[in-house]
Amino acid sequence: MKTYFTLNNGIKIPSLGFGTWKTPDGETAIKSIKTAIEIGYKHIDAAAIYANEEGVGAGIKACGIERKDLFITSKLWNAERGYESTLKAFEKTLEDLQLDYLDLYLIHWPAAAHQFENWQEINAETWRAMEKLYNEGKIKSLGVSNFMPHHLEPLMKTAKTKPSVNQIEYHPGFTQPDCVKFCADNNIQVEGWSPLGRGEVLNNGILKSIAKKYNKSVAQVCIRWALQNGVIPLPKSVTPHRIEENFDVFNFQLTASDMTVINGLEKIGASGLDPDSVEF
Ligand code: A2P
Repeated sequence: MKTYFTLNNGIKIPSLGFGTWKTPDGETAIKSIKTAIEIGYKHIDAAAIYANEEGVGAGIKACGIERKDLFITSKLWNAERGYESTLKAFEKTLEDLQLDYLDLYLIHWPAAAHQFENWQEINAETWRAMEKLYNEGKIKSLGVSNFMPHHLEPLMKTAKTKPSVNQIEYHPGFTQPDCVKFCADNNIQVEGWSPLGRGEVLNNGILKSIAKKYNKSVAQVCIRWALQNGVIPLPKSVTPHRIEENFDVFNFQLTASDMTVINGLEKIGASGLDPDSVEF
């Protein structure tokens, strides 16, 4: 299993990232980021709306690893869509993270038809601002999050720089196959948010019996399964032994038949957050 994947612009991205959604700002964020980087995570997934970028940034600063050896992602929040506001929001994120560039910047959620008549134009203008920052070298790769094929298609028509990444909800029991296929066909790397289904899939009996065979935890099986499907999992934890456990996934391999069983699990642990109906 490769520890890096290569994006469609040639940039290397660590194949396992560290999630920060719901990580409290301040000491908890600082400590969990420091712990993760000490354990070996090189890829941190942040977002402005998580309201913890100052702590995440302080943790990155305190970890003692050279900036070039880390891969830091953030996301543009929905309230900041549009050309000028995207440029401004990006500067605030950089300042909070105490960084001078990002490895990856994502549109957190698409503007969509249920909220905006001109949703395609809003996404195109947001993207145009991100392309400016990309061309200036302030962002090394551009992407989106929670975009379904019908959101990506119009964006790709006006985009001069193709999206490199789409970050979507992805875990056993929720695999969004149409979106994953569209991304594969268009050479867009899929990242999986909530790879443990926010912890909700961990009690599934089938996953438990598979985990037992490998002497691994269900969390490790979920993470390994995503990796073997070519998806970048972004498990979040603030608990040191879990942060370590979730990284200890490069020393075993799920068999093809176990992959098939997990790929075919019925719906479990889905957040219910649909980009075409969310109210935020
Ligand atoms: P905590 O942060 O308190 O350790 P997801 O990444 O799918 O959103 O899941 C995150 C949730 O799963 C958090 O509540 C986190 O708790 C919990 N979690 C993370 N890693 C593990 C693990 N290895 N075993 C059990 N629960 C975990």
